[in-house]
Amino acid sequence: MEKIVILTGAGISAESGLGTFRDKDGLWTRYDLNDVATPEGFARNPSLVHDFYNARRANCAEADPNAAHYALARLEREHRGEVLIVTQNVDDLHERAGASAVIHMHGELRRALCAACGHRWNAPAVMRAADPCPACGRAATRPDIVWFGEFPYRMERIDRALGAADLFVAIGTSGNVYPAAGFVREARAMGAMTLELTLDPSDSATDFHEARHGTATELVPAWVDEILAC
Ligand code: APR
Repeated sequence: MEKIVILTGAGISAESGLGTFRDKDGLWTRYDLNDVATPEGFARNPSLVHDFYNARRANCAEADPNAAHYALARLEREHRGEVLIVTQNVDDLHERAGASAVIHMHGELRRALCAACGHRWNAPAVMRAADPCPACGRAATRPDIVWFGEFPYRMERIDRALGAADLFVAIGTSGNVYPAAGFVREARAMGAMTLELTLDPSDSATDFHEARHGTATELVPAWVDEILAC
């Protein structure tokens, strides 16, 4: 298994104390995603959106990577082939566990974006709509997060990696949101073996050659040991 592409979702960070979206008491059971995760919601009430992401940024700063994040960083270090982590998560727990080849297709809590000029910079702990852009000075500051209806980042790079993958593994994602939910079919069609590691079967569970169900901190380290023993 030379080239491994790993897609992670909120489930890998659940045991670090960061909420998932669609489990019981998940974020989308407590917030209307139309208010806090769409460009229209931001246009309607930028302060509400900043409050939502400021709270998630604070949670993220309090959280620590868990055994699953560390196991993937070990795989990246010790696997003789290529390992690419494509994450739907906006936390930085993969990086804080030591992973470096990480693509944040839905953006990052730790980055800010100017809606007027497109400039990006490291986000302050607390972001306000009135914050002037460091580049153009306009008060059009938004979290550098990909909202519903917007294009995920780095899709060409991701598609190339999926086409060349020997193994595609999805960890802690419900397979609800595209394009990420379609990656398994893309990789499988190009000849990759496919494995799902998640607590409950995802909506795309039947697209995988193999599925293992349990918590990320039990499934991922065991799987990494298997791969490194090959
Ligand atoms: N270990 C492993 N998997 C877990 C754990 C755990 N401890 N806890 C929950 N899960 C699994 C659930 O079974 C579910 O399949 O994690 C998944 C969480 O699914 P979602 O809440 O839908 O999160 P995700 O798939 O990452 O959502 C995708 O939707 O709202 C958008 O942009 C947001 O990136 C997010 C995208």
